[in-house]
Amino acid sequence: MKVGIITASDKGYAGEREDLSGPKIASIMVEHGYEVARYVVLPDDKQMLADEMISMSDQGIPLILTTGGTGFSKRDVTPEATKMVIEKEVNGIPMAILNYSLSITDRAMLSRAAAGIRKDSLIINLPGSPKAVEEALVYILPSLKHGLEIMLGLDSECARKA
Ligand code: MTE
Repeated sequence: MKVGIITASDKGYAGEREDLSGPKIASIMVEHGYEVARYVVLPDDKQMLADEMISMSDQGIPLILTTGGTGFSKRDVTPEATKMVIEKEVNGIPMAILNYSLSITDRAMLSRAAAGIRKDSLIINLPGSPKAVEEALVYILPSLKHGLEIMLGLDSECARKA
């Protein structure tokens, strides 16, 4: 299963800060049997982020993970870019991440992360820090595989798999 990774970071894009979260996602996903089809660092620009999500989705990448830009700063627009491109909202995944993350840090409430489906791609926003990325991914990965299989029509059977 292929995964596309988008880091939203003005400083990362400008080369002023090393992106640690994108590579962190990549290594976790590879450990879990995914193939990284594309990884990009973009500024916190709604249109650029949306265009990249559309491009990855049009390339048939079934899972698109973003990191960063989910908070309260003026430049944080990753959820808005995601909502521009998705056809179906997926509320459960950000809720699950929030629910789990609140057991680790109260500051998890400061992420406005969104998720949704465009064509045959599931787009999920993760917060920006490598720590948050790891916490969120480790929690959602076991259920994610089943969701992706259903989205792609590879599985339609939920019974006895919970
Ligand atoms: N979620 C988890 N699991 N772990 C964390 O450390 N940090 C929070 C939150 N979600 C955090 C987390 C913090 S401090 C912020 S400000 C928001 O994510 C938004 O982060 P972002 O703007 O980098 O996306």
